[in-house]
Amino acid sequence: MTLGMKKLFALVAAVVPAFALAAGGNVHLDEHLTDLRDTASLQRGAQTFTNYCMGCHSMEHARYNRVAQDLDIPEELMMENLVFADKKFGDLMTIAMDKGDSKRWFGATPPDLTLVARVRRPDWLYTYLRSFYEDDSRPWGVNNVVFKDVGMPHVLAGLQGRQVMGTAQVAVGFDTLTGQEITEEHEGVLYLEEEGKLSAEEYDKLVFDLVNFMVYMAEPIALERQRLGWWVLLFLAILFVPVYMLNKEFWRDVK
Ligand code: HEC
Repeated sequence: MTLGMKKLFALVAAVVPAFALAAGGNVHLDEHLTDLRDTASLQRGAQTFTNYCMGCHSMEHARYNRVAQDLDIPEELMMENLVFADKKFGDLMTIAMDKGDSKRWFGATPPDLTLVARVRRPDWLYTYLRSFYEDDSRPWGVNNVVFKDVGMPHVLAGLQGRQVMGTAQVAVGFDTLTGQEITEEHEGVLYLEEEGKLSAEEYDKLVFDLVNFMVYMAEPIALERQRLGWWVLLFLAILFVPVYMLNKEFWRDVK
């Protein structure tokens, strides 16, 4: 194999889409570039979570007022849009669904999600919420690439659209001479059969924000630590000046 060919193979291997590997069980996860400084993203994530997920999942180790404070959401807005009618600002984010009922309905109780980003990691969550596909053999008509035979319905299907798994032409690179895209037929590829309310990019962004929020929830102190981190760095930078001068002073007589 010539060096050029090797390079080409490496390139192809790098860009063959993740889902082609799904059948092998070694599922590639898309990277979630978590950004806890993006408060607007965290706010949008909180809204999506309370609207689309809290019907079934609690975040019972967290309180609404703490979330509001951390994410700069005014109490009034929080109460109007994110807090369920029967709840108070200082309440824990519990839900009313009976665990026995949900087990019967879904075959599994929807777990509490306060710490899920620590257990499953952000990349897994980001991939999971974008990897539901139609599967008529399943009770809810969907399956999931990273969670086989999942009991959860695809609650965001209206936003994402109808995703299916099948054979499709996949871009695997560019012809270095002509600059044209090289495509290959792959099995086990996920693609949108029909768009939902959001475009593919908008949907990815919605899920990005949602996962961002879940990461914050799993470790709210991380926000504080990040803010503190900058002050510490600044402090060290300023401290460096007198320490440097002192050091020079000490060593002057020795030399
Ligand atoms: C209609 C009920 C329902 C809704 C709404 C729902 N889920 Fe689920 N979810 C479930 C069930 C049931 C499971 C357990 C699936 C299983 O174990 O097979 C689950 C599992 C999960 C898991 C996997 C947890 C783990 O570690 O095993 C995650 C993550 C998750 N849901 C996230 C979400 C998010 C985010 C939303 C909102 C966009 C959401 N869910 C909305 C029912 C729901």
